[in-house]
Amino acid sequence: MNRDFYITTPLYYVNGEPHIGHAYTTILADVLTRFGRLMGRRVHFLTGLDEHGQKVSQAAAENNKTPQQHCDEMAVTWTNVWKKLNIEPDDFIRTTEPRHEQVVIEFLNRINEKGDVYRKEYEGWYSVYEERYFTEKDLIDGRDPISGRPVERRKETNYFFRMSKYQEWLIKHYKKNQRAIRPRSRLNEVLGYLKQPLGDLCISRPRSRLEWGIPIPWDDDYVTYVWFDALINYFSATVSPPEGKEVSWPADLHLIAKDILTTHAVYWPIMLHAAGYEPPRQIFAHGWWLDKDAAKMSKSEGNVIKPLDLVDRFGPDVFRYYLMSEMTAGMDANFSLDSFVRRVNSDLANDLGNLYNRLARLYHQFGWAKYKDSRPTTTSFEEDPFEVPGELRDSVEFVELIENLVDNYEINLAIGHIMSVVNRINRHIERWEPWKSARERPDETAWAMLEAIDYLDRVAEMLAPVMPEKMATLRQWIRDGVRMPGKDQQLFPRIDIRELQLKQPESPAAVASPPLAASEPPEISIDDFAALDMRVGVIREAERIEGTDRLLVLKVDIGVEIRQVVAGIAASYRPQELIDKRVILLVNLKPVRLRGIASRGMILAAVKEQNIALLTVDHDIEIGSRIS
Ligand code: MSP
Repeated sequence: MNRDFYITTPLYYVNGEPHIGHAYTTILADVLTRFGRLMGRRVHFLTGLDEHGQKVSQAAAENNKTPQQHCDEMAVTWTNVWKKLNIEPDDFIRTTEPRHEQVVIEFLNRINEKGDVYRKEYEGWYSVYEERYFTEKDLIDGRDPISGRPVERRKETNYFFRMSKYQEWLIKHYKKNQRAIRPRSRLNEVLGYLKQPLGDLCISRPRSRLEWGIPIPWDDDYVTYVWFDALINYFSATVSPPEGKEVSWPADLHLIAKDILTTHAVYWPIMLHAAGYEPPRQIFAHGWWLDKDAAKMSKSEGNVIKPLDLVDRFGPDVFRYYLMSEMTAGMDANFSLDSFVRRVNSDLANDLGNLYNRLARLYHQFGWAKYKDSRPTTTSFEEDPFEVPGELRDSVEFVELIENLVDNYEINLAIGHIMSVVNRINRHIERWEPWKSARERPDETAWAMLEAIDYLDRVAEMLAPVMPEKMATLRQWIRDGVRMPGKDQQLFPRIDIRELQLKQPESPAAVASPPLAASEPPEISIDDFAALDMRVGVIREAERIEGTDRLLVLKVDIGVEIRQVVAGIAASYRPQELIDKRVILLVNLKPVRLRGIASRGMILAAVKEQNIALLTVDHDIEIGSRIS
C-alpha cells in the first residue's frame, strides 16, 4: 500500500481555454491523488500543457501573438483555473520547457541510433485540423474521420518511426497485462485495432510548413510531430521533477478520455519499448461529457460550458462533487444545469448540510458536550441506533470498501456509499426523535448523537478528496465544539434554479406517468378515492435504466408479492439509497411498459419543480398495509 503512485492527465492543447471535459479529467486525477494519500500512498500527480504543433501556432497567429507569447499567457489562464478548482498537481509540465525538449531530443536520438527511424516520401490525405495524414481507407465520405473536416492530398518527405515492428510485442503485452487498459471494453477496442496491420508513424513535419515544434536533432529542416513530442512529457517529467518532489518511471496511471486512446495505448507504449523503457502500468479512458443533445462538449464543437461560470458562483467543491457523482466509470455523462442543481440541493444541501445543522442545533440545545467524558467505549445500546453498516463501525473495513471502488474508478459509487451513511443517520434521527428521547433517556440519547457526530466526521474525511475545502470546514466546525453556522454561513446553500436564469427546456424529472399535477383536479367522492389501492411497500432492488437519466427500475415488496415498477425519480434518488426505503405504491394502476420494461404500479411522490420527495409512512407498520 505504502508505495509511490504516479498519475497523469493528458497535456491539454493551449489553443483554447479549459472547459468541462478538461476540468473533469484533471479533477478526477486530483480526487484519485487525494484518495490515494488518504489510503497512505505517496502519490505524484502530473498535469500540464501541450504547446507545440499547428493548432497552437494557428491560435497564436489569430491572436496576433508569437506562439511562445500565446503559450505563456495561456499557461497562466490554465493554472489559474486549476487553482480555482482546488486542483493541486505536484508538477505542471509545459512541452516548451527546456527540461522536456532535451528529453525529447535524447529520446529521438535513441530510437534513431537503434535503426527504428527512416526517411521516406509519403503521399496521403492530410487533415489540417487533426494535423495528421489519413490513408484512403481511413476517410469517411472523403473527409477526416475524426473531425469530419476536409482533407487535402499532400506529398512530402518525412521521418518515420518503425511502429509496425513492435506490433506483436504490444499484443502480447496486453494479453499478459489485461488490466493495463481500463475499462475492459477499451482493452478489447485496442486489441481489435491491433488485429489490422499497424503502419509506421510519421514523426516529423517539414519546417517549411510548421516552425513551431522541437527540431529533429539530426535534420534541422524538420520539427517533431506534436504527438510524438507531447507523449514523452510523462517520461520527461520524471527526469527532472520539481525540487523536493520525487517520481520514477513507469507511470502507474495515465488518465485520458476515449478520444485519445490509440495514441496512448498504441503509439506511446511502443515508443517507450523501442527506446528501452517500460510501458505505463495502466491507462484509464473515461467517457465524454455530453450536452443535452448528446454532443461532445468541447471547444471545437462550440457548445462549451465554462466550468468557471458555475465555479465562480457556487465554489469549486460542489462542482467537483457534481462531476464526480454524475459520471459512471467508462461511460458518457450528460451535463445539464438541472442535474447540477438537483445534485447539489438534494445530496449536499438537504442530506449532508441539514444533517450537520440538525446535529449542531440539538447538540447545543441539550448540552451534549458534557456527555463526552462519560461516553462508553463500546456502544451499549441494545440496538444500533443508526444501523450504521458494520464496515463503518469497523472503519478499516469501510476504508477498504471505498478503496476498492476508487481503485476501479467507481468514484460515483464510492460517493454513493459514503452518502448512504448520511442518509441512514438522517433516517434514524427521524425515527429516534432525539428531541423527545433526550428527555426520557438523556444519557443514551446524548451518546448516540455524539456517535452520529463521529460518523459525520468520518464521512467528511472520506469526502474530503472530492470536496477538500468544504470538508475541512465541516471537520473544523466539529472540532470547534460542533459550531452552529450562522444563517449566511451554510456549508451548502440551496441553489434556486430560477436564479441561474438559464432555465433549460428539459422538463423536470416527473414521476413516470400519469402526470401528478394536473391543472385543476376535479372533485371526487370517497368512492372514487376508495378505487385507489395504495399499499405500503419496501424497495428491495433499484437500478438505473440505461440510456435515461430519469428512470429507475424498482422491485417493491408489498408483502404478498414483489412488484416491478419503473419510476422517474433518478434525478433525486440514487439507486443504492433507495434500498430498504418504505414507499407508498398505487398497486391497481393499469400495467404499462416504459422503455420496454414492464411497470406494475406507481410509487407516490411529492413533486415541486426539480425536487422529488417520495411519500413514506410515519412509523413502522406492516408491509402491505393499505392506505385509506
Ligand atoms: N494535447 C492532446 C493530448 C496530448 S497527451 C500527451 C489533446 N488535448 S485536448 O486538449 O484535446 O484534451 C483531450 C482530453 O481532454 C481528453 O482526453 C479528456 O481528458 C479531456 N476532454 C476534452 N473534452 C472532453 C469531454 N467532452 N468529456 C470528457 N473529457 C474530455 O488531446
